[in-house]
Amino acid sequence: MVDMSGKMSSVTASAPGKCILFGEHAVVYGHPAVAVAIEQRINVKIKCNNSKSEDWKLDGLKFNPKKHPHIEAIRRRLWPAELGAPPLSIEISGQIPTASGLGSSAALSVAATAALRAARGRWFNNKTEDNSTEFWSEGFSSLIEDTDVHSIDQPSKSIRTGDNGRKIRHLSGKNAVDFDECALVAHAVEAIAQGGRASPMDSSTCSHGNVVVISDCIEQEIEWQYTRKLSTPEGEREWQIHTVSAPEDEVYLVIGNTGIHAPTSTQVEKVAKMLEKYPERMNEIETIGIIARRGIKSLLLGDYEAVGRAMSENQLMLQSIGVSSPELERLIQAAIPTSLGAKLTGAGGGGCMVALTRDPKATSEAIELAGGRTIISKFGANGLNLDEGHKALFWKI
Ligand code: PMV
Repeated sequence: MVDMSGKMSSVTASAPGKCILFGEHAVVYGHPAVAVAIEQRINVKIKCNNSKSEDWKLDGLKFNPKKHPHIEAIRRRLWPAELGAPPLSIEISGQIPTASGLGSSAALSVAATAALRAARGRWFNNKTEDNSTEFWSEGFSSLIEDTDVHSIDQPSKSIRTGDNGRKIRHLSGKNAVDFDECALVAHAVEAIAQGGRASPMDSSTCSHGNVVVISDCIEQEIEWQYTRKLSTPEGEREWQIHTVSAPEDEVYLVIGNTGIHAPTSTQVEKVAKMLEKYPERMNEIETIGIIARRGIKSLLLGDYEAVGRAMSENQLMLQSIGVSSPELERLIQAAIPTSLGAKLTGAGGGGCMVALTRDPKATSEAIELAGGRTIISKFGANGLNLDEGHKALFWKI
């Protein structure tokens, strides 16, 4: 494992999981959804593969692209063998359960993108110290017009010559990593792995951390970050991504997992069919939008009691549109006496619930007694981090 500087080295990046505080399902109809990063993370460690073999390794075994579509799509974008990128060994670890609506695949994609970008570095076309995206000579930024979120193979598109065709300065390690690029690439690979449909909620929250709001319009009073577009099988979709900095407080999220798997697509379809049959029930979807906006205002004020009340009101609406389940209700009812509010999080029908609480131990115990497996997190967590390999460089194109 010798990198280009001749040193033994590895690069490790990590990204948090997420849960949805407000607005699931209504976000499909243009209303805002609020996601919050949790302390549980996915870590991705990469090393140059020192064997003579051309194979990539994942957790010590030969890498199987079919089993790991996210890693495969990132490899094609950022580490193409046809351009001379050397084979790597990857180790994945973490505390986010998979397929439970907690963003494990987005966290994996964000962390893997950061690790590969750090190890590859990036060319800039300016001579000053300003590393802003307008001076990138390569890479994927939502500020740059030619980013096509959808395409799988992009080595030639991602490498642009700068002013007058020059590539001037090369930076690697931490200096090459960009939150926005990691969110964008993760969104792209989620879309590839999920048949062309993916909202940028998970990828943006797992990259930026803390609280992220996505909506079909630019929301007032919160910080707008960027627009994301995606060609889905149903046509062009566009989202506005915002961040919210909620004041710190001693509040916690306790997530309770029912252990029941309910695919998001089935739940979304269920709501669509209900609305087709009873169009007047769009009122409930609109009410979720109103509750979400009220929740955002309370978050900005740091009024967590009001945030909790809005979560419980949101749950009543989710129940009413038919996406809750007896198992979720049992865990939510168990959490209520010791928490500020509780609701299902994600698509519902199974999966997880979340409670906002000042007494995480009591809330967690109550949920466990009711049959849920719990995860405790402080409210909000840092986003992507490069944990090791600040100066690493494995390959330079
Ligand atoms: O549990 P998740 O992260 O798959 O969230 C689903 C959220 C929905 O609003 C139900 C669907 C969507 O695409 O936004």
